[in-house]
Amino acid sequence: MYNIYVESLYDAMSSFEDNFKKGPNPNFGSDVLSIPFGIPAGPLLNSEYCKWGFENGYDVCVYKTVRSSAHSCNSFPNVLSAHPANPQHLSLEEADQGVLADSNFPINLQEINISNSFGVPSQEPEFWIEDVKKALGYAKNNQTLILSFQGTGGCAVGEKLNSEEILLRDIKKTANLAAETGVKIFELNTSCPNEGKDSLLCFDLELVSKVVQVAKTELTSKIPDAKLFIKTAYFEDSNYLNDFVQATHNFVDGYSTINTISTKLVDKNGNNALDENRPTSGVCGAGIKWAGISQIQRLNVIREKQNLNFKLIGVGGVMSAKDFKEYREAGADIVMSATGAMFIPGLANQVRNFIQQESEFE
Ligand SMILES: Cc1cc2nc3c(=O)[nH]c(=O)nc-3n(C[C@H](O)[C@H](O)[C@H](O)COP(=O)(O)O)c2cc1C
Repeated sequence: MYNIYVESLYDAMSSFEDNFKKGPNPNFGSDVLSIPFGIPAGPLLNSEYCKWGFENGYDVCVYKTVRSSAHSCNSFPNVLSAHPANPQHLSLEEADQGVLADSNFPINLQEINISNSFGVPSQEPEFWIEDVKKALGYAKNNQTLILSFQGTGGCAVGEKLNSEEILLRDIKKTANLAAETGVKIFELNTSCPNEGKDSLLCFDLELVSKVVQVAKTELTSKIPDAKLFIKTAYFEDSNYLNDFVQATHNFVDGYSTINTISTKLVDKNGNNALDENRPTSGVCGAGIKWAGISQIQRLNVIREKQNLNFKLIGVGGVMSAKDFKEYREAGADIVMSATGAMFIPGLANQVRNFIQQESEFE
């Protein structure tokens, strides 16, 4: 018995010149099992971070949210250690009342919760288009790069446009720029402060459905098989979640959820832990897993009951292989970890080992 094709460093079926040009087989010597686990928008700031993610076994990496023009970051500090009473459960009530935040990170890494107060900074498109192409080059054949983008408001002097027209125009422009990178899977972030009711775009149903339509139309006009995910906040109200799906599912290929939970952060004296302009910040990590799992479970029920075929990326508080399993059982097709990937060494390998063990028992 002979193998028709074996993985090898040098491709024996191609010429020396072709091998010289294409370089070593990126799959050879690596674990070719692709796992549905990755890092969501945020921790992978540029192509070097994406390279780190791929090399460390995160098979689905999201390039941090980009915009149509350069946008600066909120002032330092951005990442504080947050201390809900129960590190494994940050309730919405506690998030409203106030949570201590400082620079004391817990020894038990499984209990980390952090603030994420960056304000969605972005480089100029001239930079990120080339850098995303580079990041794409770091993905092995069994790995996927997703590009996250969002719209930005703001009018040129003398323009007479309302905020909706401005946002839609910018979404169109950003989607066009994103299509130049060579990426085929995109994520539209609607869950960071933006134009819309209650400051988050995902809470404005009418606008969000227009935004996804414009984004998907633009992307597919350039890349016919482009896929679009939408990143959302946690929706406590299940009726709203259902309405959200009804308003968007025709234009998206899946939902990536959840983003951080907005939390009042205080120092040990009860003052704002960040600065006077930032009484609240998104909190992520172990304490928000309950919310992410709940959202994925409810989306999965909607998907099954209504026979819809969107994909689910489960995000929020994944700190271990056990958390990965919980998300998969809740209905997630892909699971991602931001805080866990940032603080827990070897998290992707833990998940990979777990998947391998499970498959041995099947
Ligand atoms: C450092 C950092 C930066 C982030 N930046 C973004 C971003 O630019 N766009 C976005 O959609 N989400 C962003 N997020 C949110 C994450 O994608 C994720 O939804 C959230 O952190 C919950 O996951 P976790 O509990 O695993 O951290 C960021 C998170 C972190 C920790």
